[in-house]
Amino acid sequence: MSRFGDRVAVVAGATGAIGGAIVRSLAGEGASLLLLGRDEARLREIGTELEEGGVAVRTVAGDLTGQPAVEAADAAVESLGDGVDLLVHAAGAFRAGSVESAPAGDLDLQFAVNVRAPYLLTRRLLPALRARRGLVVFVNSTAGLGAGAGSAAYAASKHALRALADGLRAEVNVDGVRVLSVYPGRTRGRMQREVCRGLGQRYDEERFLDPADVATAIVDAAALPPSAEVYDLRLRPASKPRL
Ligand SMILES: NC(=O)c1ccc[n+]([C@@H]2O[C@H](COP(=O)([O-])OP(=O)(O)OC[C@H]3O[C@@H](n4cnc5c(N)ncnc54)[C@H](OP(=O)(O)O)[C@@H]3O)[C@@H](O)[C@H]2O)c1
Repeated sequence: MSRFGDRVAVVAGATGAIGGAIVRSLAGEGASLLLLGRDEARLREIGTELEEGGVAVRTVAGDLTGQPAVEAADAAVESLGDGVDLLVHAAGAFRAGSVESAPAGDLDLQFAVNVRAPYLLTRRLLPALRARRGLVVFVNSTAGLGAGAGSAAYAASKHALRALADGLRAEVNVDGVRVLSVYPGRTRGRMQREVCRGLGQRYDEERFLDPADVATAIVDAAALPPSAEVYDLRLRPASKPRL
């Protein structure tokens, strides 16, 4: 199936568990891709793998909390075509710690990566998204819907991301641009290992979502025609007790 054969997709966090699964899924459906992340060697590796599968791929390595990486991404988009159909924000940072004891710098870092970075990149790419009546996907978290002990700052950043998505949707729907927030529960990978380590819990992979399933849900939602907007998508591991 090739639902994205004529589409251009930009994926931030392409080197991560969820972002990596999304780019593989999109590449399998023929999308032209711009991959964003910090780890240049890893980005190149993924890019080469996908190009061998026959899709057009560009990579831009950089810290998306700053303007230079955002501008480099915008320039790379222009080399892929005349607009953007899909912008996926799957970069993110997690730091465990109580409100009382966590360093204030951890709060700043999580707001920078989880809120500032998608804010900067989205507004920079809005003209390209308008040109194609595109879709912006924010990979949020169940932490964007509620908060627990040891992750208040992370949850606060994800609540802010939810507000960013809702406000943006109210601004750009009129131009045909759609906005989707995705709220996955715990998902296998490097970040979840950090979560378990930080919260003093066992990393039990079997109880977590498979990033490929999160990617399937997102790509299926993105495949809908412009006349329909999935705006909130909540996923949890099916195994109970609920995490
Ligand atoms: N894992 C979970 O259980 C879970 C559950 C719900 C929601 N989420 C959310 O889903 C998203 C992806 O999570 P994941 O599990 O895939 O995490 P991950 O494997 O740790 O990947 C994180 C990604 O973010 C990128 N990144 C981090 N800081 C960055 C920065 N300053 N500039 C540019 N890129 C940066 C990383 O790039 P490099 O590797 O190149 O540094 C990597 O590609 C995050 O927003 C996370 O909050 C995760």
